[in-house]
Amino acid sequence: MSRRRAPAAFLPRLTAATRVVTRSVSLATSLGIALTVATLPALAADATSVRYPAGATTFQANCSVCHGAKGAGTPSLAPPITTYPARYAATDDGRKQLAMTVLNGMFGGIDVEQKHFDFKMPDFTHLDDATLAAVLNYVVFDLDHAADEVKPIAAEEIAAERAHPVDGTAVREHRTKLLTALGL
Ligand code: HEC
Repeated sequence: MSRRRAPAAFLPRLTAATRVVTRSVSLATSLGIALTVATLPALAADATSVRYPAGATTFQANCSVCHGAKGAGTPSLAPPITTYPARYAATDDGRKQLAMTVLNGMFGGIDVEQKHFDFKMPDFTHLDDATLAAVLNYVVFDLDHAADEVKPIAAEEIAAERAHPVDGTAVREHRTKLLTALGL
């Protein structure tokens, strides 16, 4: 059986085609590298401007679906968390409120900045103390720009609340008293 031989004129074309393919692969590879290198400084800049990058990652993975990427909230679903958390963090009872909210969730109607919300915030007990402290610090300092005098929330403060689980209604009742005390 004789194989069909490629006509002589076809061979150089085949080689050229292979070269084109090879060249585009290496072009894609170097483009890939160029892109990676180009994104690195952007990421580095982002990491320096965000005070709690680990908290930011936790926030995007667990909270932004309801509260939005920048914490601005979703109308009638989840409240904005761009002002109150910073006010809370300046007082002991407010810090307790923040820890209680992420550990136990919250339900029942609430008002935030004169807007009404009545939905359920899930609990995040499956996240450890340090992770919850970091996500709250991201909210308080990166999203809300709390004053520098405000102490960062420590993992120990989360641990203290974890030892006293309550239900989402109790979290809301504690919030009502806190808001009165803060004049909000
Ligand atoms: C499924 C949606 C949902 C997710 C996910 C969610 N939340 Fe909430 N969050 C809510 C709702 C709804 C409320 C208000 C609850 C109510 O109406 O009683 C709330 C309330 C809050 C409050 C209290 C605001 C105030 O004014 O007292 C904070 C702080 C907060 N969330 C932070 C977080 C953080 C941090 C995460 C991620 C770890 C998160 N939330 C994830 C829906 C959500």
